[in-house]
Amino acid sequence: MPQPKNIVILISGSGSNMAAIVRTAQAQQWQQQFGARVAAVISNRPDAAGLQLAQSLGAATQVLRHQAFESREDFDAALMALIDAHEPALVVLAGFMRILTPGFVGHYAGRLVNIHPSLLPAFTGLNTHQRAIDAGCREAGCTVHQVTAELDHGPILAQAVVPVLPDDTADTLAARVLVQEHLLYPQAVHDWLQAQP
Ligand code: GAR
Repeated sequence: MPQPKNIVILISGSGSNMAAIVRTAQAQQWQQQFGARVAAVISNRPDAAGLQLAQSLGAATQVLRHQAFESREDFDAALMALIDAHEPALVVLAGFMRILTPGFVGHYAGRLVNIHPSLLPAFTGLNTHQRAIDAGCREAGCTVHQVTAELDHGPILAQAVVPVLPDDTADTLAARVLVQEHLLYPQAVHDWLQAQP
């Protein structure tokens, strides 16, 4: 039997990208196709709405409160231990709002992906939609990328583009981008799995 390809998804909030991936994994039968399954959904916030959503989809959940740790390094070390118990082939950051230590990123090099709500390399960091509107961008979007030590950098795996409309607010633009995120991220994970030996 080949090694199962375990996927661990990290969230902090509503978990809608996580849910899109879990639903696609079920609908496309990733278990049968790739031997892949979402082994766990882990949140750094106990009140993340995504935890209940994950459970309602049949995914196992775990919580590791970052506030319980004195340093970023201590939290990341504990998080690595939690993740590694699942022997993950892929770690998926889905609205995981933590800056990761270089040790964490290095440990998962080549098997750590993120989605960011902008057309990287434009608008790394926060408030991406308002910044795109303020800059007068005609187009915005989202990016799935491999995670490297530098925040919101790393090789781009996939992007989706949406128009910025004249009366857009950050909220209306975010909603338009999020629709695309829910298509792009599952597709990018699917393609990653398909490319594995
Ligand atoms: C998504 O829009 C994602 O792109 C963004 O947070 C949201 C999470 O939503 N991520 C970042 O800003 C990371 N820098 P979700 O919890 O409903 O998936």
